[in-house]
Amino acid sequence: MKPTIILGIESSCDDTSASVISNGIMLSNVIANQAVHASFGGVVPELASRAHQLNIIPVVHEALKRAGIDKKDLSAIAFTRGPGLLGSLLVGTSFAKGFAQALDIPLIDVNHLQAHVLAHFISEGKPDERQPKFPFLCLLVSGGNSQIVLVKAYNDMEVIGQTIDDAAGEAFDKCAKVMGLPYPGGPHIDRLAKTGNPLAFTFNKPQIQDYNYSFSGLKTSFLYLLRDKVKENPNFVEENLNDLCASIQATVVEILMNKLRKAAKELNINQVAVAGGVSANSALRQSFLDHGAKYGWEVYIPPFAFTTDNAAMIAITGNFKYHNNDFCSIEEVPYARVSNKL
Ligand code: KG4
Repeated sequence: MKPTIILGIESSCDDTSASVISNGIMLSNVIANQAVHASFGGVVPELASRAHQLNIIPVVHEALKRAGIDKKDLSAIAFTRGPGLLGSLLVGTSFAKGFAQALDIPLIDVNHLQAHVLAHFISEGKPDERQPKFPFLCLLVSGGNSQIVLVKAYNDMEVIGQTIDDAAGEAFDKCAKVMGLPYPGGPHIDRLAKTGNPLAFTFNKPQIQDYNYSFSGLKTSFLYLLRDKVKENPNFVEENLNDLCASIQATVVEILMNKLRKAAKELNINQVAVAGGVSANSALRQSFLDHGAKYGWEVYIPPFAFTTDNAAMIAITGNFKYHNNDFCSIEEVPYARVSNKL
């Protein structure tokens, strides 16, 4: 029988990515990062769209080449429809529409956040792969999102808690910025925290209802601490950099895990996963392992390449939708924001 071969395309923010999945097994996952934003201290939407325009064709070409697949063998094209930066999304969406029409194959629209969760089902065909069992909880933490998602099936997910202001990644990046670290600051905080004392400084913890998060107060509390300390000692940040990083990191992880623990307990779920760029954080990963040991959770931490934005997660979501006959019409347009139902 002819294999089901899905080409996935991701262009929601500042990474252009294409991936080929054949019968559920990933054959390629090519990602072009955009270095252009680093000097601006954040993603510049207009520059991101232009870079996607330059990258999209070579990236798709390379993904097909590495997979050893001819475009004529593709069964369908899956693309990120949203949420994300509209100009960036338009590049991937328009390309996917044009390519699908030219090849006369179906088009599949994918929700980027749902795809982050389903990244846990990307298979590289290795024998030791583990996948969460339904229902499971997924902590989805990235530069733009902090959510607890209750995953009942591939196509049935509910956001049961989310940030009411900043995302966890944003909190890392903003705190890093006030310490003079480069963008994105999350990985720098993680690195510097390794030799710091996580108990050196304490910050206000948010008192938010239900399973929701808030990180803007933490950022302000951090800013005020630095302002007061630098008044007393202008070298305060340099002299305490490792302790500051360790303390802010420990606080973010504690806030994230407190709500996740509450959700796991109240919903009586022991399958717990993490997804999104912040799941690269070593303290968060360690905390997941510690919770596994202490509370009997089965924890699922994806390989690093599948935590940040990538097209393999779009292709695997496309694969599930393909088998559900869940296609989209050429008239569909991208969306920047998303509702509570993924
Ligand atoms: O999912 P992602 O790649 O894309 C966006 O949502 O933009 O997440 C990027 C976020 C950034 O805020 C970055 O600082 C954070 O993930 N991040 C980290 C680490 N690696 C990436 N935060 C803390 N520790 C890390 N090791």
